[in-house]
Amino acid sequence: MDKKLLIKKAFEVKEKAYVPYSGFHVGAAVLTDSGKIYTGCNIESASYTPTICAERTAIAKAVSEGERNITAIAVTGDSQWTYPCGVCRQVIREFGKDILVIIAKTEDEYREYVLKELLPHSFGPEDLK
Ligand code: THU
Repeated sequence: MDKKLLIKKAFEVKEKAYVPYSGFHVGAAVLTDSGKIYTGCNIESASYTPTICAERTAIAKAVSEGERNITAIAVTGDSQWTYPCGVCRQVIREFGKDILVIIAKTEDEYREYVLKELLPHSFGPEDLK
C-alpha cells in the first residue's frame, strides 16, 4: 500500500474544500481493494446542517462507483492533527472495523490507527443480521 501517495492525495484535495463559514479545510483519500483512490473535501452549506465532511465525501464517491472494500483512508485538516468526527468514524466503520485510518499532519508526519481503535465497541452491519 502506497501510504505516501494516499496522504499526498488527501493534501491535494484539501485545497478544494468549500468552507465559506468555518474556513476549516479538510481533505480525505480512500483506498479500495481495487487499488483505486477516491478523494473528498468538506463542503459546507449556508443552512449549516447539510455540511458534509471530507471523509464522507470520499466514501460517497467510492461507494457510488461500486466500491465496497475500503482498505485505508487518509485524513488531513487545518488543525495539527485532524481526526475524523464521530459521524465519519461511524460511516467508515460501516465498511470495516479494520480499515487503516491515517491522520496526517504533514506529508511525512502521520499517525496510523485501525478504525476499531478510534471507535471501540461499535455498532455495525453485523448487529442487524
Ligand atoms: N470536518 C470534516 O470535514 N471532517 C471531520 O471529520 C471533522 C470536521 C469539517 C466539517 C466542517 O466543514 C469543518 O470541518 C468544521 O467543522
